[in-house]
Amino acid sequence: MEVVSLIFLVATFSGAAGYHIPGNISCLSWRLAVETNNIREWDLVPQACVNYVGHYMLGHQYHKDCKAMAEAALVYANSLKLARDGKDIWVSDLDDTALSNLRYYARPENAFGSKEFNETSYNEWLAEGISPPVPEILNLYKKLVSLGFKIVFLSGKSESTRSVTVSNLKNSGYDTWLKLILKQKSEKGTTAVVYKSSKRKELEEKGYRILGNMGDQWSDLLGTNVGNRTFKVPNPMYYIS
Ligand SMILES: *[C@@H]1O[C@H](CO)[C@@H](O)[C@H](O)[C@H]1NC(C)=O
Ligand SMILES: *[C@@H]1O[C@H](CO)[C@@H](O)[C@H](O)[C@H]1NC(C)=O
Ligand SMILES: *[C@@H]1O[C@H](CO)[C@@H](O)[C@H](O)[C@H]1NC(C)=O
Ligand SMILES: [Mg+2]
Repeated sequence: MEVVSLIFLVATFSGAAGYHIPGNISCLSWRLAVETNNIREWDLVPQACVNYVGHYMLGHQYHKDCKAMAEAALVYANSLKLARDGKDIWVSDLDDTALSNLRYYARPENAFGSKEFNETSYNEWLAEGISPPVPEILNLYKKLVSLGFKIVFLSGKSESTRSVTVSNLKNSGYDTWLKLILKQKSEKGTTAVVYKSSKRKELEEKGYRILGNMGDQWSDLLGTNVGNRTFKVPNPMYYIS
């Protein structure tokens, strides 16, 4: 009982200055809770977990977890019998799913998502168009393409980034896709979950079958018209609603 009150006090009084882990949980438990969407709407990586998240992202475990996700997706993809009418699609998010922004987030001023998001520097990074592929996702993409899936990239990035995004994708090994859907000016201000749901609804209304859907954010995978199966790519660095 005392322990519970103490945790409550600590949590209450530490709320103001930066983000702290709710409750006395380990960083591994925190990461599991954010990956499973038990902890939602979180703002920044807790200060106490910056080193943990940095090691996770730069070390082997992030890639092992991406591989586990890709393997599960491939088992599922292989199990399907495609109609081969050009309507069997696989929806993929771009940022930190197909393409990695880890080099940006690893900068000291961003500290793996533990510092306030800087839209200016992030847009400068995107404008360089040098995000490398997430290797396990590129590998999965190639297998999906060879199985006959049509790929739809669905991103919250602005339409104005189209040409740099196209060259970034091609330079990274993503050489074919059915559609690259980017956010129009008129769609600004909608949350990712609303925007992505409405784009997927439009696809289904055109007769496309969303057999698979993958993304690093729960907002890629929740909402409506989510597809027959969803696959969560690990990302403990930020949360987008
Ligand atoms: C938090 O957890 C650690 C390790 O499990 C333990 O040693 C410590 O006493 C706990 N702190 C509180 C405030 O409960
Ligand atoms: C955000 O990034 C820009 C461009 O790199 C930089 O000039 C600015 O100082 C940064 N803002 C903050 C609050 O760090
Ligand atoms: C995908 O889901 C739709 C709607 O629930 C269903 O009709 C269809 O059979 C499913 N397709 C596969 C391949 O599971
Ligand atoms: Mg993303």
